[in-house]
Amino acid sequence: MAAPEGAAPKIGWLRMNPNLLNSLHDSRILVTGGASGIGAAVAAEIERQGGKAIRADLAEGDGILRLDVRQESEWAFLIERVGTLTGLVNCAGVNPHMPIVDLPMEMFDQTFAVNVRGTFLGIRSVLRLWRDIKGGGVIVNIASVVAALAVPRQVHYSASKAAVVMLTKGAALEGAEYGVRVNAVSPGIIETPMTEARLERDSIQEWIKREIPAARAGKPAEVAQVIAFLLSDAASYINGAVVPVDGGWHVQ
Ligand SMILES: NC(=O)c1ccc[n+]([C@@H]2O[C@H](COP(=O)([O-])OP(=O)(O)OC[C@H]3O[C@@H](n4cnc5c(N)ncnc54)[C@H](O)[C@@H]3O)[C@@H](O)[C@H]2O)c1
Repeated sequence: MAAPEGAAPKIGWLRMNPNLLNSLHDSRILVTGGASGIGAAVAAEIERQGGKAIRADLAEGDGILRLDVRQESEWAFLIERVGTLTGLVNCAGVNPHMPIVDLPMEMFDQTFAVNVRGTFLGIRSVLRLWRDIKGGGVIVNIASVVAALAVPRQVHYSASKAAVVMLTKGAALEGAEYGVRVNAVSPGIIETPMTEARLERDSIQEWIKREIPAARAGKPAEVAQVIAFLLSDAASYINGAVVPVDGGWHVQ
């Protein structure tokens, strides 16, 4: 039976508040790594919910501003250039796979430079901004299910994402002084350019069906919707949280 006109849409037992569909209205949110994968999906979701997404990535162009998240001077330049911000999503990340015994130290340093230093510089840039204008704001970082689960060939990556978890919790404590919330999501395996080659392998598909309760990889939009919720006032009492978005992988 069709819902009566004007009634809130029903999803199972949850009656959604239709206002939530526009819950990022009037927001201006900077998304790093915004050219691809989860970052691009987050930007699209922000815009769908009535906000303005400012996408930044290594290469400028097509609505994307140049930002190398490892460089403090580039953060300073970008923050000056974009003006008012109400949120930041630290999505830029790298995940080169390699066993410990073969990993070149440049690759180790690069992983920490993008995932940890880049996230730290992002947090610091907007905290300084919001401290000075006393305006509040919201930050969402991207950790990973492997921040808490050891996985061969990704030891450097999982260590960097464990660091992102602690950056999130520490920044939540300090940010609270300025009315800023800082949370993270922990995605499992999501279909993006980062995982494309691995997901083409039959052995990975079989592993996913066997080990992940949802028996499939996630879509970038499924992560983006959770990030949008954390950015919104609907999450006003959530701070320092790390939310798994992994089809149930983390419970094993
Ligand atoms: N895809 C997954 O399964 C998965 C799972 C868990 C966590 N994550 C995390 O999600 C985030 C997004 O990953 P994705 O899957 O969308 O990957 P992706 O490769 O599609 O996107 C990553 C983006 O980060 C950008 N980037 C890399 N280095 C940068 C730098 N120095 N400065 C600015 N931008 C830079 C890249 O250019 C790219 O556009 C990453 O932090 C990743 O670690 C992804």
